[in-house]
Amino acid sequence: MILFLQSSVPLVPDSASTLSGEVDALYLYISGVTVFFTLLIAGAVVFFVIRYRRRNAFEIPRPVEGSTKLETLWSIIPLVIALTFFAWGAKVYFAQYRPVQNAMEIHVVGKQWMWKFQHQTGQREINELHVPVGRRVKLIMTTEDVIHSLFFPAFRTKTDVVPGRYTTQWFEATKPGRYHFFCAEYCGMNHSGMRGYIEVMEPRDFDNWLSGNTNQASPAAVGQAMYESLGCASCHGANGEGGRGPALLGVFGSNVVTNNGQVRADEGYLRESIINPQAKIVNGFSPIMPSFQGQVTEEQLLGLVAYIKSLSSAKPETTTAKPPATGTPQSANPAQPR
Ligand code: CUA
Repeated sequence: MILFLQSSVPLVPDSASTLSGEVDALYLYISGVTVFFTLLIAGAVVFFVIRYRRRNAFEIPRPVEGSTKLETLWSIIPLVIALTFFAWGAKVYFAQYRPVQNAMEIHVVGKQWMWKFQHQTGQREINELHVPVGRRVKLIMTTEDVIHSLFFPAFRTKTDVVPGRYTTQWFEATKPGRYHFFCAEYCGMNHSGMRGYIEVMEPRDFDNWLSGNTNQASPAAVGQAMYESLGCASCHGANGEGGRGPALLGVFGSNVVTNNGQVRADEGYLRESIINPQAKIVNGFSPIMPSFQGQVTEEQLLGLVAYIKSLSSAKPETTTAKPPATGTPQSANPAQPR
């Protein structure tokens, strides 16, 4: 049934990710249950209208007293059915929105009205995105202006892109090809033009494509240059030189104790610490860091974050510029390090 829908009738877009099949199956299940009960109820209405029609002008119907048994039944059956929607929906939702490990990371910056992408090697693209088939890709996304939403119909994934923070989405393409992506959040006059194509390539083709353009600075290199030109090192030496700010070596992915409680140093925390340093002060340090709001663009910020991540040797998947197509050794072990 799903195959039929996808091959001959353009009711659904291509199905080209590890998640798209299950999203379709769930959609079909919900639609099927809905159609079944719509027909059942409509049929029952017609049947009862005919079966219990008034046969003469003086007929008095038998009074209905109600039935606890019947009422219990028609409450419990829909409840159970609705819960299957919920359980299956939650399973798909968690698969989609839980952060993934060992993914190839790509930076995304939305702006009115274009999508800018940057690979870890430095390769930039606008309204085009090249990815390898069979590899998890994690998008770290933000925007320079208003809210946008990046939607890949063929992958059945869509996530809002919000100013002032990072959001992420991931997918693993299963079929090489060229698929549309769209902005799915009304963002101004040319919202409908804020779209492009994702090119899913065989890993070898992708590696060739990626190595074809090596003259661009990687995000981490851009970040390092920013780090030096902004004078970050005078307080934040990578190893703690400077002494006025916490050491940045190994900070990414660690748990940091701040005046606002313990936080995990993820991309969002690093971003906040640059833009709004007073939000969370690491214990043992004074709130002396100035805000860099307005001094760095979103792309430079992503670069700074990438640079700080690259200082963290404990997280190999974040520093590999060109990981092997078959996944890193960590992916062989499904258990997540906790
Ligand atoms: Cu960007 Cu709609």
